[in-house]
Amino acid sequence: MVEMFPNILKLVQLLFVSLTLSRSNVEAAYPIGVNYGTLADNLPPPSQVATFLKTKTTIDRIKIFDCNPEILNAFADTGIAVTVTVADADVLPLTNLDSAKAWLAAHILPFLPRTLINRIAVGNEILHHKDRVLIANLLRAMETLTSALRLAGITTIQVSTPHSLGILSASEPPSSGKFRKGYDRAIFAPMLAYHRRTSTPFMVNPYPYFGFTDRTLPYALFKPNDGVFDPATNLTYTNMFDAQLDAVHSAMARLNYSDVDIVVAETGWPSAGDAAQPAVNLANAMSYNGNLIRHVNSGKGTPLMPNRRFETYVFSLFNENLKESESERNFGLFRPDFTPVYDVGILKNTPAAGPSGPSDGRKWCVPKGDASSDALQRNIDYACCSGLDCGPIQSGGPCFSPDTVRSHAAYAMNAYYQSNGRHDFNCDFAGTGVITSTDPSYETCTYVA
Ligand SMILES: *[C@@H]1O[C@H](CO)[C@@H](O)[C@H](O)[C@H]1NC(C)=O
Ligand SMILES: *[C@@H]1O[C@H](CO)[C@@H](O)[C@H](O)[C@H]1NC(C)=O
Repeated sequence: MVEMFPNILKLVQLLFVSLTLSRSNVEAAYPIGVNYGTLADNLPPPSQVATFLKTKTTIDRIKIFDCNPEILNAFADTGIAVTVTVADADVLPLTNLDSAKAWLAAHILPFLPRTLINRIAVGNEILHHKDRVLIANLLRAMETLTSALRLAGITTIQVSTPHSLGILSASEPPSSGKFRKGYDRAIFAPMLAYHRRTSTPFMVNPYPYFGFTDRTLPYALFKPNDGVFDPATNLTYTNMFDAQLDAVHSAMARLNYSDVDIVVAETGWPSAGDAAQPAVNLANAMSYNGNLIRHVNSGKGTPLMPNRRFETYVFSLFNENLKESESERNFGLFRPDFTPVYDVGILKNTPAAGPSGPSDGRKWCVPKGDASSDALQRNIDYACCSGLDCGPIQSGGPCFSPDTVRSHAAYAMNAYYQSNGRHDFNCDFAGTGVITSTDPSYETCTYVA
């Protein structure tokens, strides 16, 4: 990710694509992966990370920003697919076949086949960095690396490169999406031809986080909003993520490459920032990433690319304490001790120990008897800002009466617990929640279970 976009670039974040053919061995029902960044001095050892992801989460693919051998060893025999990244400094040498063979022999071959390396990202957002020599040689490096893979008899590893949305010169409305002048025919047409030829994806990093304004915050967070109408297509966009992907799609279609697949190599929202960033908070991070995952998993696709599922890598697995700003340090879904910063639905549903109970097994989350009103109000704010429907406890709703903080908190806490996977910790609420097998529903107020 490149944090410091100039304003114009904020408007147009980019994505990279992936081709259907070669996805077959990792195309599970679940297209959600995570970026495992390591700019921190307090992260657990990679072996623990591999075990954690495999046993506690539904994540079946990761992307790393290097070729760290310790990580590649740790993910052996996990079945978790790994995208590795060629360091920018190693890209130019890859244009030479012997160097590309040597790079493969040093960084990839030792880990095959036990580690399921399924994609190599050649550099990271190279076009964003404006090194003309590197940009001019990027495709040749990708092609030469592909040749080296074929010569080594490897057909299961895709070669691609992730782009920031700065590759677009127009993105609003989405149908106007186009690649920057000078890059469109010279860089992207041949690169997309390569992707089509090799059935590899165009990888892009769309960040509504870098594109929102006060007015478009709900649109960026997948929350209810007026939508954005695209007069050229008569399509209405209800979220910025779709709009950014469709802008990329439009740019590709302009060059006649709309058939090339797209992979979302990075996207995310930080859970904490500094005082000047009021939209950077836990509730908004939960809303963005939670809604993103639901949206991607729904298979709905985007207005211009209906019914498509985009393999999507959330940024990021961990909070990384060596990054520069407070917000950059807080993109993680997990803290270094593996506790979730928040749950976006990627934790495995760990069944309660022991045989299922005498009841029908349904469970609800309600406030503990000694929870304070202040704490319960915070729970309401938190749960209802996470994208849940809290209409039933608003005036006129079936659960508005009794109009007490405790009653409203019970409804909101349970709704949160149910929609986040019913893990015990979804009902923790800083020690103020408890799980019950007694249905709290009353009159017309129904508590889901
Ligand atoms: C959009 O809707 C208008 C009004 O119904 C119609 O005239 C126009 O042809 C439509 N455009 C497209 C691209 O469907
Ligand atoms: C795309 O295809 C159309 C129809 O074949 C053609 O007229 C147009 O020139 C092509 N555009 C590009 C950029 O190749």
